[in-house]
Amino acid sequence: MPEKSKTYEKSPPKVFIRTFGCQMNDRDSEIIYGLFMERGWKIAESVEDADCILFNTCSVRHHAEQRAYSNMGMLAKLKRRRPGVILGFTGCTAEKDKDVVIKRLPHVDLVAGPGEIYNIPDYIEGLMKNRKKIVAAGKLERPDRENPSYRGNKTGTYVSISEGCDNFCSYCIVPYVRGRQRSRKKELIIEEVKSASEMGVKEITLLGQNVNSYGNDLKDGQNFMTLLEEVHAIDGIKRIRFVTSHPKDTKEALFQTMRDLPKVYKHLHLPLQSGSAKILKAMKRGYSPEHYLGLIDGLRKYIPDCNITTDIIVGFHGEEDSDFEETYSIMKKIGFDSAYIFKYSPRPPAESSRLADDVLPEVKKERHARLLELQKEISRRKRDSRRNEVLPMA
Ligand code: SAH
Ligand code: SF4
Ligand code: F3S
Repeated sequence: MPEKSKTYEKSPPKVFIRTFGCQMNDRDSEIIYGLFMERGWKIAESVEDADCILFNTCSVRHHAEQRAYSNMGMLAKLKRRRPGVILGFTGCTAEKDKDVVIKRLPHVDLVAGPGEIYNIPDYIEGLMKNRKKIVAAGKLERPDRENPSYRGNKTGTYVSISEGCDNFCSYCIVPYVRGRQRSRKKELIIEEVKSASEMGVKEITLLGQNVNSYGNDLKDGQNFMTLLEEVHAIDGIKRIRFVTSHPKDTKEALFQTMRDLPKVYKHLHLPLQSGSAKILKAMKRGYSPEHYLGLIDGLRKYIPDCNITTDIIVGFHGEEDSDFEETYSIMKKIGFDSAYIFKYSPRPPAESSRLADDVLPEVKKERHARLLELQKEISRRKRDSRRNEVLPMA
């Protein structure tokens, strides 16, 4: 249960959170806001207006991480001007870099990993009384508990169905900063969706690093399809989305469930990462390009006009021209509705960071640009053909 609210009668303190990274982090920031509000805090409009500023960080790629460091670096000036303001560095980079954060950012008061989110208001209120810096990291597992009812956006909102990831794709930092997969108890998820729906939320996005392995660790017979059915049965919810599906755990039963449940958005985000069998193996993705193509064929049989999107990494260790051309041609063949295309960045301690980052930056840049161009053209054609389909016959 949320802790009993403490009221700051005259002037409630204000918290401001800047979020980097994925929807998981967006949802975590919303939970943190909710926890503060249960204690009588308010949300600040800007950093200038805040008594506590938190950066909820992402470490999935070097660039996102550096942005958080440099933006927090810029707050040193504000801290000199207003020494009373409390600065926190939370989320995935906080977990990854732990004590190093304070060395790089000596003006930061709190460093707290994703496993610590429910303790953040306690740490901050502690810091208001006693200015001793706190580094709370290393405990990856957060309790599976009820979340505050606060929702920042009432039209569409997120509900996490699992935390962490068991896949250890060789390039990926997530299992090291978010821990192993822990599926949340179905009852808590359903309660959370119902509570959002009672507040007027109509659209829910279910979040997990690999939603298709939901329930594997619960051993109570639950799986993602049974969960979708239960969420679907909640009256006030009109639309359901979910991310992310992993190709190795996505089965035909999912396509059938998506087809049969009218409120489920006909959209599948299915990260391919590469079209080369050699690279997929080195990435430890657990499927081949042929398997992926088979999934797309299966999906299109069940839902012919399903919106399909993907993630691609270019320039992974050992990616030769011929590997890249395989990615190019599979993307052309499938024709995704949209694709997020990333340049590989080594992320210690993820396994591939021990291998050479041997694709030259200019080659990564060129491959990235070629795929962006290809995808732009495909997306444009798809949009045009959809538009033509709805035009009245002459
Ligand atoms: N759990 C999801 C998403 C993980 S992170 C999944 O498995 O698909 C989102 C995307 O970031 C990944 O799909 C991948 O394309 C990209 N990514 C992850 N690590 C990366 C790295 N080290 N370098 C470049 N892109 C990376
Ligand atoms: Fe990272 Fe792979 Fe897990 Fe996605 S499935 S979070 S890419 S380890
Ligand atoms: Fe998300 Fe980035 Fe963490 S993608 S899980 S915020 S490393």
